[in-house]
Amino acid sequence: MLIKIKPSWELPERIVTPEHLVMNRRGVLKTAGMLAAAGALAGCDQSKVAETPPAAPGAASDADPTASLYPVKRNEAYQAGREIAPEEIVSRYNNYYEFGVDKGDPALNAHRLPIRPWEISFEGLVEKPFKTDFDTLVKAMPLEERVYRHRCVETWAFAAPWSGFPMKALVDYAKPQSGAKYVVMKSWMNTDVSPAQTQVWVPWPYTEGLTIEEATNELAFMVTGAYGKPLPKQNGAPLRLHTPWKYGFKSAKGIQRIIFTDQRPQTYWMALGPTEYGFWANVNPQVPHPRWSQASEEVLGTGQRVPTQLYNGYGEQVASLYANLASERLFM
Ligand code: MTE
Repeated sequence: MLIKIKPSWELPERIVTPEHLVMNRRGVLKTAGMLAAAGALAGCDQSKVAETPPAAPGAASDADPTASLYPVKRNEAYQAGREIAPEEIVSRYNNYYEFGVDKGDPALNAHRLPIRPWEISFEGLVEKPFKTDFDTLVKAMPLEERVYRHRCVETWAFAAPWSGFPMKALVDYAKPQSGAKYVVMKSWMNTDVSPAQTQVWVPWPYTEGLTIEEATNELAFMVTGAYGKPLPKQNGAPLRLHTPWKYGFKSAKGIQRIIFTDQRPQTYWMALGPTEYGFWANVNPQVPHPRWSQASEEVLGTGQRVPTQLYNGYGEQVASLYANLASERLFM
């Protein structure tokens, strides 16, 4: 009798994104040649993937000088209203297209990204452009833990305890000029680590942006840890964004450049699929994605589908940001 032993990192069937949704998003990726890029990743890296054990949940860097900072105190003001998802789901079911297009790829491949030293530059409309080492930055910031809901545009969702600091503290640290209207975040570029990034027609590096009002809203959170430990690389170590009222693609991972500007930026997904993804990306059950409904969401690990909430349930904190923007398509 042939017995198939599942590798420990293989995802249970119940948390796998429904096939039709994966295929839908793949449509955009295919148009952009990203599936070929993923093939390149698998092709040149197949042996490594097979030989290299997946990163353990919670594993970040081998020598992480910030490890002793965790766990940090939970801020009980932020309640997710649903069970915290198991750590092995949040650290093994990921979107991080630098490492491949399948949900298990980031946990297998992200260990190859060197994250020490990690320099972060502050550029554009700031009093004086400067660079800071991540370890210096994180020690200067007011760390806390928040349990936030996460909602991907592909309709999967979960709640997780993230450690980090309010983005407002980062904006204050950067000292923007009064004319700055937007904060742009750019992720790393490293074609040695990411064969996908050799696809020159894909708009690397991953880029996202917020208005200054959004970035300084109390909910906008810079994430440096998860589940009481430094952030795993597949979740965006050492530094990622979390904007829980927006679709997950706004939450850029592996941030290296922070640029203040007076121009609304073109983001990664806006460039890849301009008719499907836009700047605001606010969770809205009444506005379908052009190719699928956003009315409900699947809570990973539970097998349950529940109604989507406007602003992912965070309207009290953020609805006022959009009061004068009724003419804009706020979901995109
Ligand atoms: N950041 C980078 N640099 N590259 C990416 O591909 N994917 C985004 C976002 N941040 C992405 C990224 C998308 S589509 C989602 S849903 C979230 O990361 C997923 O975060 P998670 O894997 O930690 O759940």
